[in-house]
Amino acid sequence: MQYGYFDDTRREYVITRPDTPLPWINYLGCEAYFGIISNTAGGYSFYRDARLRRVTRYRYNNVPLDCDGRYIYLRDNDTGTFWSPSWQPTRHNLEEYVCRHGLGYTVIGSVCKGVEAQTRYFVPLGESLEIWQLTLTNRREEVADLSIFSCVEFALWDAQDDATNFQRNFNTGEVEVEDGVIYHKTEYRERRNHFAYFACSEKPTGFDTQRDVFLGPYRGWDSPAAVERGQSFNSVAHGWSPIGSHHVKVRLKPGETRQVIFLLGYHENPKDRKFDPPGSQQINKETVKPITEKYLRPGVVDEAFEALCVYWDGLLSVYQVQTPDVHTNRMVNVWNAYQCVATFNLSRSASFFESGVGRGMGFRDSNQDVLGFAHAMPERARERILDLASTQLETGGAYHQYQPLTKRGNDEIGGDFNDDPLWLVLSVAAYLKETGDRSILDEPVVYESRPGTEQPLYEHLQRSIQYTLDRLGPHGLPLIGRADWNDCLNLNTFSDSPGESFQIATSRDGKVAESVFIGGLFVLAAREMAAIAGECGLAEDARRYLDEAAKIEAVVLEHGWDGEWFLRAYDDFGQKVGSRECEEGQIFIEPQGMCISAGIGLDDGQADRALASVKERLATPHGIVLHQPAYSRYYLHLGEISSYPPGYKENASVFCHTNPWIVIAETMLGNGDQAHDYYLRINPSAREGISEIHRCEPYVYAQMIAGRDAPTYGEAKNSWLTGTATWNYVAITQWILGIRPAYRGLQIAPVIPTDWPGFEVTRLFRGVTYHISVERAGKGNEVSLFVDGTRVEGDIVPSPAEDQTEVHVRVVLS
Ligand code: BGC
Ligand code: NOJ
Repeated sequence: MQYGYFDDTRREYVITRPDTPLPWINYLGCEAYFGIISNTAGGYSFYRDARLRRVTRYRYNNVPLDCDGRYIYLRDNDTGTFWSPSWQPTRHNLEEYVCRHGLGYTVIGSVCKGVEAQTRYFVPLGESLEIWQLTLTNRREEVADLSIFSCVEFALWDAQDDATNFQRNFNTGEVEVEDGVIYHKTEYRERRNHFAYFACSEKPTGFDTQRDVFLGPYRGWDSPAAVERGQSFNSVAHGWSPIGSHHVKVRLKPGETRQVIFLLGYHENPKDRKFDPPGSQQINKETVKPITEKYLRPGVVDEAFEALCVYWDGLLSVYQVQTPDVHTNRMVNVWNAYQCVATFNLSRSASFFESGVGRGMGFRDSNQDVLGFAHAMPERARERILDLASTQLETGGAYHQYQPLTKRGNDEIGGDFNDDPLWLVLSVAAYLKETGDRSILDEPVVYESRPGTEQPLYEHLQRSIQYTLDRLGPHGLPLIGRADWNDCLNLNTFSDSPGESFQIATSRDGKVAESVFIGGLFVLAAREMAAIAGECGLAEDARRYLDEAAKIEAVVLEHGWDGEWFLRAYDDFGQKVGSRECEEGQIFIEPQGMCISAGIGLDDGQADRALASVKERLATPHGIVLHQPAYSRYYLHLGEISSYPPGYKENASVFCHTNPWIVIAETMLGNGDQAHDYYLRINPSAREGISEIHRCEPYVYAQMIAGRDAPTYGEAKNSWLTGTATWNYVAITQWILGIRPAYRGLQIAPVIPTDWPGFEVTRLFRGVTYHISVERAGKGNEVSLFVDGTRVEGDIVPSPAEDQTEVHVRVVLS
């Protein structure tokens, strides 16, 4: 069953009924001001940091689901009937409803009582504000006498404090209203120099700023007293819960259309010019007025929208493909690429499943995210890499997370996730191959955000590698620390206290439990490091890293191979995890994917055997599950992984992030049919027809799909902010389609299904547009390259002459 459809030409997902199984969201903003918006206008906004600079309030896990949003109410002044044109919060029957989620914008349109209302929400480039562009059309035969009420609920900035510290916060809320603009200025009197504003292009007949006056006592968002009676109360908030609501009256003749613009924005004043007149407590509005005046003009708004579309066209045009498979095309060309940018912008902070207060920017997560967008925004990849590296510790270890507003490591979580530093090597390698910009390696970067500790980025990478080598366990495999990629495999925790964080509590010295996964990751990272050193002419370093990689590879093959697959780990007792000897959790997906990606076992058949075991034991129609058998009870020595009921999350769900590692491994063995088959099993577009089972958005990946041990097998959760986006993008674009940036040029090594006659790609790489046409002449993966008509040996298209901006490549696969 479907709740909408893909409009591929307009690059929109069109939702045709409001009651989707879950709120299906989109993101507004791509620089500093961001918002989440659902298909019924639910969601919230923030400036840079979803925790520390929350502009509007949102109550997660609310009833009804997804309340608090960017609300507009319409009221028929003749009959007193009112409704929400976005369906929520009044949930009146709408005669027509459509929500179009596009790239950086959402349009919600409906018809009710003969009034057509369409609202386009977006954040203009370069601004810290969002626009709600409301277009009303009277489809009745007679005049429509309408009231429009807008409404947002302001958050008191720190979302964590906002949701907990009521003894203070019910006293601090403050607003100003001037010329129809509502200013939210809680704490502006003291240490803040920022405020929010909510403006309207029409002169309002009234306003409200105190939530409980607007709603009326004991009422909810579905029946605000002001809307019901058809007149605002002109309330001014003193403490309690400040909101912004305008009341605008419009009379529309039959067929008449009117546009009303609302602006919700965030603004900072210079610290010494906060007040006007100086010495007063009134906001100095001189700095913000030019902005509001500008964007309340429809022509300017339309231009800003056009500019946003051009921006997204530019980002997506870097990689465009035409294959025989529609799901591949639309994910690569639009939605997967778009999701990669969302994960880059927001890491794991704000989604419908991430509350915005829990997790900032993850060191592992954000480094991996670089792999999915470095081609689209190389300058921002550079900046992100340097931000991440500056939270690294001098030991080479890393803070597990940092806050985007302060860019400082988060002390509450700390470090010791022993895989973390290695991901920095992978992100830098990806950036270097994409751009060829070796200057990044010389950038002086601090440790732990401490001035005076600057070392070149190259040194940070060396310490990342050394960090693993300094922490090898009894078998010579890397020690796992608090956890590796699998945050829930907590082999040193032994937690028996309810509520204790599995990843923070550590009760062992950590000198025994080892990770085969980190072994594989190390080999991959050390080989990347050797290549980086080689590119820099540091032959000695390159040799050393290759030696270290070979040593750990040998250890993995000796102590990390279980006979038919790679082991997962050794626990704190030195016992195997992920072995046929185990009662549960005999085989895990992660080491198979990572060890093979690192090139381990390719020569002697282990890789083939491991993948055959994956197929036999882990692959299901809904994707490949994390391990089998699922843990049926809690194991003190394994930690959070066994805390989840079987089939969910890290306990044997289809943890989608890991599936593309197997896809990559299959391509490395030349199995294009198997690789693309796995790719499609979790491809959201390919699952659109089972939306009633999948339940999450069909246009983006979710972190997990419940595994076969779960009662709700096939149900997805945690959509949007997941490394799944990046890894699937890498797997399809670089490994199946095989277009990979390499140090010496663009590599083209497709491993596609045997029944594909070929495909076409346009790829912008280092300023040159490559028009690539791949044709199948035989069933294999042998590549013959013709560059601008001339046969070239190997599979790398060498960089063209400096003035050449277009290259035509013909690839024959046989
Ligand atoms: C989740 C993991 C996540 C970890 C860190 C756990 O509860 O299951 O997926 O990585 O928390 O936030
Ligand atoms: C989600 C986390 O964001 C990611 O860092 C981790 O690798 C996976 N969960 C698996 O635990």
